[in-house]
Amino acid sequence: MKLRYFDNAATSWPKPSAVADAVHRCLVRGGGNAGRSGHAKAVEAARTVLGTRELLAELFRIADPAHMVFTKNATEALNLALYGLLRPGDRVVTSSMEHNSVMRPLRHLSNRGVRLEVVPAAPGGVIEPGAFCAALASGTRLAVVTHASNVTGAVTDIAPIGEHCRRLGVLLLVDAAQTAGSLPIDVEVLGVDFLAFSGHKGLLGPQGTGGLYVRDERVLEPLMRGGTGSRSDREEQPEFLPDRYESGTLNSPGIAGLGAGVQYLLRRGVESVQAHERHLLELFLEGVAGVPGVTPYGPAPAATCTGVLSLNLAGLSCSEAGSALEDRFGLLTRVGLHCAPLAHRSLGTFPEGTVRFSWGPFTRERDVRAAVRALRELCAPDGGRR
Ligand SMILES: Cc1ncc(COP(=O)(O)O)c(C=O)c1O
Repeated sequence: MKLRYFDNAATSWPKPSAVADAVHRCLVRGGGNAGRSGHAKAVEAARTVLGTRELLAELFRIADPAHMVFTKNATEALNLALYGLLRPGDRVVTSSMEHNSVMRPLRHLSNRGVRLEVVPAAPGGVIEPGAFCAALASGTRLAVVTHASNVTGAVTDIAPIGEHCRRLGVLLLVDAAQTAGSLPIDVEVLGVDFLAFSGHKGLLGPQGTGGLYVRDERVLEPLMRGGTGSRSDREEQPEFLPDRYESGTLNSPGIAGLGAGVQYLLRRGVESVQAHERHLLELFLEGVAGVPGVTPYGPAPAATCTGVLSLNLAGLSCSEAGSALEDRFGLLTRVGLHCAPLAHRSLGTFPEGTVRFSWGPFTRERDVRAAVRALRELCAPDGGRR
């Protein structure tokens, strides 16, 4: 049976072939440890790392690539920002649509004296900028908000939040795990102080890659300290970027692959990926609209969404539906709570969760049509078992 991959929100697949080629090249030809020695192989690895840093800076319109810090995923980037910024007594505002990579550190920090306020989402899981900004009373140290929900794909309008934060002197951390590579992002236009992202989702890089944009390193303590290959005469952590936050050997092969993924996106244009994913969403929604028994979740009329659709099927638990979709139709989805229990509470789908379809730049119309046919069959009165 032909398998169709609908789990791009967890990690993207397939990747452009140039990604695997770049990883291979780095392992076979590169070989050195970036920034650690002066020999040819270390210099080549350092060049690869710098190349990817520059490509990411170009993608996110970051003026100085040194402000682009590599991490192993978005979770590490978010932890770096949250633990590096917040101290007991600080006030932090977030939304009810956040992933556990935001909620778990924040719950932990709130048990240590950080004051946490969670702004509830509007129906459909939309974070309304007005409601969010209203919670940013003066004295707030940090606002943390997702650029798009990993459950519904609903996109948050960040720019007005960024503008309000600037006016109040509140720092803004945006979780772009679901939007980097799928929506155009300009850190200046959005007014973000920190942008956390995965390298292995919309940016099409290998797993084990991610990063954090840091506008001003003076306000952010490192999460880890250690060898950087720079200022080895000193026992204290360097204060300059990006070394302040990049202790230990970097994942050069992964970063090489990430560079190839970003290069693909820059060539194709993120706007083109956005339009493609949007088109597939419309096709999907149109297809399931007339199917009795399918309940989609998310904003109506899905005005601004990424390539994600969460739904449930009447008469089937979401794990039964997920198994049937894979076993009978070869459709690979993700079911359950998607590491976002509070988002599911906001949607009214807790504790069961939903079946989530998520697509990417290489998903075709015929994949979506096959998904719609499968849902129609599963929802037929005989469960499609004619
Ligand atoms: C909205 C959101 N934030 C953060 C993460 C964590 O990303 P990573 O797996 O790269 O740590 C995810 C992963 O699915 C996500 O969807």
